[in-house]
Order: sequence, then C-alpha cells, then structure tokens
Amino acid sequence: MPYRYLWTPLELGPVTTRNRIVFSAHLTNYARDGKPTDQHAAYYAARAAGGAGLIITEEHSTHPTDWPYEKLIHGFHRDVIPGYQRMTEAVHRYRVPIFAQINHNGGQASSMYSRLPVWAPSPVADPLFREVPKAVDHAEIAEIVEGYATVAEHCAEGGFDGIELQCSHSSIVRGFLSPATNKRTDQYGGTLANRARLLVEIVTAVRRVIGGRLALGVRICGDELIEGGTTIDEAVEIARIVEATGNVDYINTSIGVATASLFMIEASMHIPPGYAMFIPSAIRKAVDLPVVGVGRFKDPLQAERALAEGHCDLVGVVRGQIADPDFAAKSRAGATDDVRLCLSCNQECVGRMGLNRWLGCIENPRTGREHEWAVTDHVRLTSKPKRVMVVGAGPAGLQAAIAAARNGHEVTVYEKEPQAGGQVRLAASVPNRAEFGDMIRNQLTECKRLGVTIHYGTGVWPGLVQEQRPDHVIVATGAEPNRPWWAPAEAANVCDVRAVLDGSAQPFGDVVVIDEIGFHHATSTAELLADRGCKVEVVTNGMVVGQDLGITLDMETWWMRASQKGIVQTTDLVPMGMEGTTLTLLHHPTGTNVTRTPDWIVLAVPANPVEWLYLDLKAAGWNVDRVGDCVAPRRAHAAVVDGERAGSSL
Ligand SMILES: Cc1cc2nc3c(=O)[nH]c(=O)nc-3n(C[C@H](O)[C@H](O)[C@H](O)COP(=O)(O)O)c2cc1C
Ligand code: SF4
Repeated sequence: MPYRYLWTPLELGPVTTRNRIVFSAHLTNYARDGKPTDQHAAYYAARAAGGAGLIITEEHSTHPTDWPYEKLIHGFHRDVIPGYQRMTEAVHRYRVPIFAQINHNGGQASSMYSRLPVWAPSPVADPLFREVPKAVDHAEIAEIVEGYATVAEHCAEGGFDGIELQCSHSSIVRGFLSPATNKRTDQYGGTLANRARLLVEIVTAVRRVIGGRLALGVRICGDELIEGGTTIDEAVEIARIVEATGNVDYINTSIGVATASLFMIEASMHIPPGYAMFIPSAIRKAVDLPVVGVGRFKDPLQAERALAEGHCDLVGVVRGQIADPDFAAKSRAGATDDVRLCLSCNQECVGRMGLNRWLGCIENPRTGREHEWAVTDHVRLTSKPKRVMVVGAGPAGLQAAIAAARNGHEVTVYEKEPQAGGQVRLAASVPNRAEFGDMIRNQLTECKRLGVTIHYGTGVWPGLVQEQRPDHVIVATGAEPNRPWWAPAEAANVCDVRAVLDGSAQPFGDVVVIDEIGFHHATSTAELLADRGCKVEVVTNGMVVGQDLGITLDMETWWMRASQKGIVQTTDLVPMGMEGTTLTLLHHPTGTNVTRTPDWIVLAVPANPVEWLYLDLKAAGWNVDRVGDCVAPRRAHAAVVDGERAGSSL
C-alpha cells in the first residue's frame, strides 16, 4: 500500500484514528446566530467521506466576553447542542471521529459584538483590534475555567469524540503563556509555571467533566514571531507541562499569532512548504504524547515524509482538504496525481474570512456548498448526452468542460494557444507564483480522467462551429488588455503586464508599473522586472499598492521582497496623460501634479471582455453560453464558478 505511515492507525486516548490525516480546526463563517448549521455538518461530512482520519471543528467560544467576529459558535449556550448532534452524526456516518476546538480569544478581540470589555491577562492592546482589554481578576479567571468546563459538557452531550483546547494563535491561554502579553505579578504571571497555571487549571477542569470518554488535545504555538513572544524553547517546556498533567492525549501545533503574524499561520505560496515543521519536530523529541504537525502539507507524499522522518505523528491538512475533500481517499487509492492540489493562494478560504463571508475555495466551487449537493451526489449523469464545444482552455472553459463531462456529455475544448491556462498560466510564470499554475494542472488532470478532448492551437470562428454542429457551445474566450484613455495608442514603450509575462515586451531601465487592479498583477510583474535589473516604481491611485494582497496574507511578504529588490511604491497618484515619454500624475490628496519620464510604462489596469464570438453565435441562433472573463473580467474564482454553473446545467 502506498504511504504506509499515513495509513497506520493511531490511538489518541479513547479514540483511534484510522489514518494520520487531520482536518485541523479552521474558521468557516458557516455559523448562524451563534449556532452550528447544516452547512457545517455537510462540510465536515464531505471530508469524512473523503477519508480524513480525524476532523477538528472550528472554535466554539467559552464565554460571552469572547465574540471577536460575527459568525462565531457560542458554545457556552446550551442551544448549540442540537446543531452539535447533527454535525457529529453526519461525520460518524463515515466512522470518523470528530473533535470540537474550544476557545476564548482573550484580548485578540473587540467589544463590537459583545458590548462587553474584552478579557486578557494584562491591559496590553492587540495590534489588530487596538482595544485595551480588562486584566482579569481571580474571580474572572475562575469564571473562564468554568466556561471551558461548561462548553466541554455541551460538546460531550453533542456527541463529540474529543476536545481540543486552542492555546496557540488567538487565545486567552496563549495570552497568559506569552511574555509579550502577560505582564502580571501574581501567581498567573512571571515564571513559565505561573503563566501556564491557567492552561493547567483548564485542562484539569475539562478532564474532570469529560472523564475518560473523550480525548483531550492542546494546541500550542511553537513560535509567536513577535517581539518578546513565545519561542520554540519555551513551547517545548509548555508541551512538557501539558504532558505532566497526565490529562492530555495529544498535542497539536501552530506558528504565529492570529493578529500580529497571521500571514505565517495560513502561509501563502510565498512561504515554502514545511516551514513550520521545526515545531512538531522539537516538541516530539521532548514528549511521548502524539504530536500533530501543520502548515502547507499539499500532497500525501510530503505528509508521508514528515511522518517517516519522525517530525510528527499526525499531519494537519487544512487547505489541502478544503480544496479536495477526497485528499485522503485518493491518496489511499494511490491516485496521488488526481488530488486537486491546494494552491496556497488564500483567495477564497482565508480571503473570504477577512470579508465576513462563508469559506470557499478558488478551485472547488462545491466547497461550502456541500449542503446543497448530497455528499455522494458527485455525478448527475444525463440520459441524453450532448456534443458540447468549449472555446478556450483557461480556468472558466476547463471548469465548464469538467462539469459537462461529469454529467456524461461529450466535450471537446478548442484552445487557440499551444497550451492551456490562459491568464493563470501567465500569472504562474512569475517564479514565486508558480504554484498558482497547479490550478490548470488540476483541471487538466480532471479533464483527462473524464475523457475531455482538447485541441490546442485551434482558434474558433463561426464557420468551425457550423462545421462541427455541436449541440451546445460554451464560450470562454477571456479578456484582452485595455489601453486606458490617458496612454495614447501611438505612445511607444507602454505595454500591459501580460506582454511582459508572455515575453512579447521586454521593458528595460526605469520602469513605472501602474497598479489599478490592486492584486498580484502589478506586484508580480514589478518583481520580475526588478529581478531582470530594471529600476521599478509601482504607482497606485489607492492608499497602498496591491491592496487586496492584505486579505490573502500576501502583503507582508510582498513588502519584504519589494524592499529587498529596491522596488519603490508610491500611492495616491492618478495618471492624467502622456506627453512624449513624460507621464503626468495627479496627487489627489493635495491636487498637485507630478511627472515621471521612465523608459517603460507597464499597465496593470482593468481588461476588456473578448465577446465577439459569443455575440455572433448567439445572433446566429446557436445554443450558447459564455463564462469567465468574456462575460466580465474578474478573478479566477469567478471564472471557475461560471464554468461550473454552465457545464453542470447541461
Ligand atoms: C480560513 C482558515 C481559518 C483558520 N482558523 C483557525 C482556527 O479557528 N483555529 C485554529 O486552531 N486554526 C485555524 N486555522 C489554522 C489551521 O488550522 C492551519 O494551522 C493552517 O491553515 C495551516 O495549515 P494548512 O497549510 O494545511 O492550511 C485556520 C486556517 C484557515 C485556512
Ligand atoms: S482558496 Fe486557494 S488556498 Fe484556499 S483552499 Fe482553495 S486553493 Fe487552497
């Protein structure tokens, strides 16, 4: 059997996992009115059906003072129990254990929702929420401990097989453990033993409630990556303290603090896989308890290796299973190539959390929508297969092809370029964005499995459609670069980012990159040009270059790389026109004009849809849909959703 370490069962106290793949805790925003929903139940059940060894739910709050974001599960209310029961029953149907993560976020919160002061060990404001917390007194500490015990009781009644205490990246327990946030001088501050007192009291209280029936785990931060915070040596000591309680069955791990160094917890593709492995590795050497390693495990091979090399006993695969619920089952069947690899793009999972929307995935339009499709309803085979012609092998066209072929239609894709991928292929041509290209690799693998035919180097015009006479056409012809009004068509040395990426333009010398999109388009191209020796300035009309990089947690690493590469970032400038090679820009806060005379101007500006084929075919009376950028140029998730919708409706 492939991956023999991954498929070895493991005991976590009273619970046995059938394999070592954990769907570790993560916020989903599926809760409503403080309660878990059917969306949760179906979401977790899909990963259980897909072979995960253990599911750990998102956090359940232990106290009314803890309400940092709207859609938090209020575990301290008894009315969560029916929802817990639906969730645990749905997962147990697949004989997979499910644990509840319980938590109080402490000072990493605001009073916006609760209208109560936030609680923390000391009045140290969190850098994200910027609210000074109330330092808890001893009666309040007792109330916190009691809150954990109450929620553990609710979880036991709700059918959970175990409890995980989140003491890692956003937690009052983390707040007490960390010298950066615990400034107390009583028996809960100072020495590590004192700072760990709350943790030990909670572990004892929860174990008292759950007895030996449920497993108990503790998630620890191995390095907070903040000034004066917990580092690995102290994390190892904390693990020893946890083990010494005799009440804990496993240790989970994490890196970073959810507010100050979040970009390292849910690391994007700019941080190398395996970056957090040193944490479980060091802890495992110090304790006998099973240890979970987490962080950018993308494929089963990498997970197997971490186990084989002794870095951890279980592997957390979070985004890997958000993208592909069948990650484990495919791995077990030896179908590693069929795993829909997570891109670590953070666009629709982490990104949507920051926007208070439900969790999804850029590649998997069914993520978060499992309650609308039965878990087993992967295929809705047609009794009347159609001949479907898809024009364009970018993400929209390929997804349309996949969805139509999945329903049993005979699908042929025509792509005018010699390769698939459209703009995704270009985006992935920048070295540190290469993983984005896995999206097309994944789609092509699925097309192959479903028997989709792809013709490369074949443009489509109405005559070809007439010749092929398909029953249905799906047009996915994408978008083309747009020359903005202020850059005359005859101006030399002005090009779109796409021309830089496909090599048709070769800017040199001083280059100004105009960022009007606010995502990777400008920043990636700027990096590529800086790497080629250009002196690059990125100019935006916004308050920050690449402003949406913030929600995908790419901003911090972009700033580090930009600074290393000498890329200048200038904000609040609106291009107003060109005179020869001189570009005039309005500094809109002050109403003054500034000029630049670069060797090249590179444009990251909104594109134009390529819609002529769709309009011609529609006018000629063909059954035709259009999807992706040829409807309206947007980001890749929209292309995939459009494609899925059109293909699956046939
Ligand atoms: C959208 C999202 C929300 C998360 N929320 C939590 C959380 O509430 N509690 C927690 O312990 N970890 C949380 N995490 C961290 C994950 O458990 C995990 O450590 C992280 O995603 C890295 O694993 P991966 O690379 O396999 O995705 C979250 C991760 C994601 C992607
Ligand atoms: S949105 Fe991107 S990072 Fe998130 S699960 Fe999907 S592929 Fe992975």
